[in-house]
Amino acid sequence: MNVLSVASEVYPLIKTGGLADVVGALPAALLPHGVKTRTLVPGYPAVLQKLKKKKKVGSFENLFGNPATVLAAEIDGLDLLVLDLPELYARDGGPYVDATGRDYVDNFRRFAALSLAAAEIAGGDVVSGWKPDIVHAHDWQTALTPVYMHFGPAAATPTVMTIHNIAFQGQFGALVFPELALPAEAFSMQFVEYYGDVGFLKGGLQTADAITTVSPSYAQEILTPEFGMGLEGLLKSRVADLSGIVNGIDADIWDPQTDPHIAQHFSATSLKQRAANRRALEERFGLEKGNGPIFCVVSRLTWQKGMDLVAEIADELVAMGGKLVVLGSGDAALEGALLAAASRHRGHIGMVTGYNEPLSHLMQAGSDAILIPSRFEPCGLTQLYGLRYGCVPVVARTGGLADTIIDANEAGLAAKVATGFQFTPVNADGLRLAIRRVLRAYSEPKVWSKIQTQGMKSDVSWATSAERYVSLYSGLLGKG
Ligand code: ADP
Ligand code: GLC
Repeated sequence: MNVLSVASEVYPLIKTGGLADVVGALPAALLPHGVKTRTLVPGYPAVLQKLKKKKKVGSFENLFGNPATVLAAEIDGLDLLVLDLPELYARDGGPYVDATGRDYVDNFRRFAALSLAAAEIAGGDVVSGWKPDIVHAHDWQTALTPVYMHFGPAAATPTVMTIHNIAFQGQFGALVFPELALPAEAFSMQFVEYYGDVGFLKGGLQTADAITTVSPSYAQEILTPEFGMGLEGLLKSRVADLSGIVNGIDADIWDPQTDPHIAQHFSATSLKQRAANRRALEERFGLEKGNGPIFCVVSRLTWQKGMDLVAEIADELVAMGGKLVVLGSGDAALEGALLAAASRHRGHIGMVTGYNEPLSHLMQAGSDAILIPSRFEPCGLTQLYGLRYGCVPVVARTGGLADTIIDANEAGLAAKVATGFQFTPVNADGLRLAIRRVLRAYSEPKVWSKIQTQGMKSDVSWATSAERYVSLYSGLLGKG
């Protein structure tokens, strides 16, 4: 079975969050099931620079007014198609925002072009000799793919639309509609019209054959007004086609026994070796040496991630005997609040701002616990990395966090299945109480190492979830 996966980011070429990790790791997990994935991404400078042997396999004379080329390349086992369209993608700055952090004003065009390219490739006339059996689109940036397919030559090819975060919907003023090269009837309830605007994700959810999101709990949550962000009604009407498949992780990249970014390798049977990573972390963040637990945060600094709560409880965390290291970037006010906490508690709280992939590995290897107080979390990957590295996850009971961490309550400990700490309600009090529980468990080394080892043994691989995607794809082919 051939699958065209289309996304706005893919690890290891370009990453701003978990989407890239998932799009980069799923193909290898599907391959043993006979599913061959080609992944189409935009030719941002960061992507083009990393392509070594590339081959031109297709072209467009005119894609939104510009000529474009489709390049094929293989990187780390990923079979990539890259849409080279300098007019839209050769920019300084990130994949979505310019160097000053502002959204590119033509994002609707940049990602409509990606979606249209995917739909045309699915039709079979662009990359000669290749045509997918299934098209899998990820998040709003590629959500027009099933819409274009509906009106194009690939209308019969089944489509899957995955929601990684429904908070980002790609909503633009109606004025952009004439530029999208869609027939007039697409500006309607059945397609992209969304409260008088154009909704990319809305259109994708309306037209895709199957809708998935990245955990079973989030699949339920987005049917409610609290989490559905306006799309709950549409999703309810499509509930028969909606499922939640939890993310896995790339167990080769995230392996404490081989990780090149950490100070000392270790496994569940050599947890003492983590100490060298702790020392490296203390040094990196200027922490005083000591025995209390080190909590870490590796996160986008946003309201979604509950980073204001971390800033709010930071003083008490230190007063209770904990230390805190933060790696993150995002909202300036949150960054400021955390930096202020770090300067109030030199030697006990350290912060590195920015995006730093190698350091994110050391944080998991050297800290004792990772704080993830998200207000909503479709899946979350950092708790899975934490599990694998013996860095005990302390998570809000929501979405994928609720689905992947087993609380260390009496029953969980007695059954020898506990892997972390869950808390609710998701506010400062909830987080405070959770930290108190963590400190109590940490003070009993036997209990603590049990939670660590149970976490390290839990299955965070893609194996089960890959099977779920395979049966979803097969079901869709069967229908067609
Ligand atoms: P989201 O995609 O919502 O940000 P996830 O938990 O799914 O959340 O994925 C976040 C990914 O980004 C993880 O791989 C995490 O390690 C990484 N990450 C987040 N912030 C940073 C940072 N400042 N530096 C390095 N990696 C980061
Ligand atoms: C989104 C979500 C996150 C999820 C990731 C990958 O960024 O916020 O919870 O893990 O996508 O699916």
